[in-house]
Amino acid sequence: MLYRPCYGRLKLVIMARMANRAPQPTAWDAAALGDPHAQHDKAARVQAMFDAIAPAYERFNTVATFGRDAAWRRAAVAAADVRRGDTVLDLCCGTGDMLRAFAQHTQAALLIGVDFAANMLVHAHFRKGDRLALPRQAAPGTTRVPLMSAESGCRTRENTMPRCREGAPARSQSPLSPDCQAAHPHKPARTFHLIRADALRLPLADASVDVISCTFGVRNFQDLGLGLSEMFRVARPGARVVILEFATPEHCILRWVYRLYCDAVLPCVGALLSRDRTGAYRYLPRSIDTFAPASALSASLKAAGFRAVTRRTLNFGGVVLHRGTKPETGGT
Ligand SMILES: C[S@@+](CC[C@H](N)C(=O)[O-])C[C@H]1O[C@@H](n2cnc3c(N)ncnc32)[C@H](O)[C@@H]1O
Repeated sequence: MLYRPCYGRLKLVIMARMANRAPQPTAWDAAALGDPHAQHDKAARVQAMFDAIAPAYERFNTVATFGRDAAWRRAAVAAADVRRGDTVLDLCCGTGDMLRAFAQHTQAALLIGVDFAANMLVHAHFRKGDRLALPRQAAPGTTRVPLMSAESGCRTRENTMPRCREGAPARSQSPLSPDCQAAHPHKPARTFHLIRADALRLPLADASVDVISCTFGVRNFQDLGLGLSEMFRVARPGARVVILEFATPEHCILRWVYRLYCDAVLPCVGALLSRDRTGAYRYLPRSIDTFAPASALSASLKAAGFRAVTRRTLNFGGVVLHRGTKPETGGT
């Protein structure tokens, strides 16, 4: 009896919340999940899905990976071999986890995050004191996220973005004066640019970045080859690319445990944490199962032009860290 009033109130709050919720689009129904990578509108579905789950995205990541994702990101940052003053481009940056890892563990001067899901960018957050270059223009249909930063902006194919400065900052160019660099050797000033754009049509100049990272993003591309070629185009000669992607473990017992976890546990955790109705947490295991194996991704990196392509398995084969380098010579 004592619990009744409490329970009633709680029920009201829950009902009010449910009533206020905007209906989520069903991005991934059973038919589309048959082969998610073959859907002609895969990119639109992916975007709608991440826009819907953005508020719970980081919490879900931490819970679902038992906090291991931070270690995978550190491994990716270490593999990227970032040098002082480098320009780092994080594709599919989501809520900014990798950008923060680069900021924490490297002396990169300029960190550029690109993602096409506006709500993911809305939830990106940075340390106090970091300079975040925010866009002046709001994107159509959103009020808070700019289509792109005007300072670093370029045109999209649709010509909706401001034109970018010619070229990109030279590798040696630092936003700090030499005196200031000497005075703060471990704390270089750094600027973040968050750009809302499609990774397959980057609004960046050719050969303009020193490091490209893409964590858990390439699996979502509408066209993997096009995405990797675009990375190659914007990479400077000598630039490093690091890609983290989920994979299915090769060992049969590990694979069985992994499948059980992905098929039975993950969708429940996702549903509990984000009350998702877009099918996001069914898309996740399905898109991993049906995605190119790690060896094929290595081959695609080589086909895009990258050399010294290596891969390292993490998390008992459930995650693979790919690395490649753009040759010093051989065109863009
Ligand atoms: C699984 S999340 C990964 C986010 C972040 N990299 C991380 O490690 O937490 C995938 C992100 O890729 C973005 N994405 C997928 N395809 C994209 C594309 N073609 N262009 C830009 N962003 C894309 C999604 O919007 C989403 O934010």
